[in-house]
Amino acid sequence: MATDQAHRRHVIDLDDFAADELEEILETTESMKEVLSREIKQVPALRGRTVVNMFYEESTRTRISFELAAKALSANVVAFSARGSSVEKGESLIDTVRTLQALGTDIIVIRHHQSGAPYLAAQHFRGSVINAGDGRHAHPTQALLDLFTMREKLGQIRGRKVVIVGDIIHSRVARSNLWGLTKLGANVTLCAPPTLLGPEAYWTGTWPEVTISHRFDAALEGADVVMALRIQKERMQGGLLPSLREYSRAYAITPERLARLGAQTLIMHPGPMNEGVEIWPEAVSAPNAVIEEQVTNGVAVRMALLYRLAA
Ligand code: CP
Repeated sequence: MATDQAHRRHVIDLDDFAADELEEILETTESMKEVLSREIKQVPALRGRTVVNMFYEESTRTRISFELAAKALSANVVAFSARGSSVEKGESLIDTVRTLQALGTDIIVIRHHQSGAPYLAAQHFRGSVINAGDGRHAHPTQALLDLFTMREKLGQIRGRKVVIVGDIIHSRVARSNLWGLTKLGANVTLCAPPTLLGPEAYWTGTWPEVTISHRFDAALEGADVVMALRIQKERMQGGLLPSLREYSRAYAITPERLARLGAQTLIMHPGPMNEGVEIWPEAVSAPNAVIEEQVTNGVAVRMALLYRLAA
């Protein structure tokens, strides 16, 4: 699979991106944001190209923002849901991808509950594949919109302290953010109870710069960004938490913790949120919360990626 930006065909994760390429995508995102601020929010960059959004798992933000992004670039956009398709008759992912190729698809956007599904699709597709979230492996476009939002608000990412708190063991958002944030020079702290972190050696072995903490109040000292992750009840195998109330007391962004944080500390969440579990409503609506801006920036980031892959 090609990895340098001149020949990039696929976006499976951010592990094979150099810092320069990440910066270029963030700059292209700024241009796309300018397009979206116009009265006519559409340019002809992908006219005549076909983008198929293949969603094998639920999504609101990612699915809709990819659709809006492709339409803003004038692509032909087709929504594919596993439900109601020949997948229900047993058609494999490989055969589905080959079928989409035979139908003239240029770019496949894929979300799948199985880690590795976008990589498999990329091996059997002559066009481009973008990972829209696979299992607990990766969610590169979420990480890019998070990076863009941080850079837009903080000016630069290098040297900033970013605390990612919550259900880290199940989080593809945490993994992709770790690649992006460390490549751009942020100081990342992962904070979770041991059962929601898994083996520390995995994290420090893959990202040696990362700091691990089990004490949220201590981890918040000097934070520029606090990113809360959703407790993924659907991926829990049971017994990882004594109770959600216990978890919230130690690890949620509560009104008390919000008051202790500086007004400059960004509050982020990739969504969807469990309000009252990992984040309180007061934190969601705080002036320093940028959760809605993350969603808004998702369209421009995805436009930037579609544009660069099509070019
Ligand atoms: N953050 C995120 O991926 O949200 P959706 O599941 O709604 O796409």
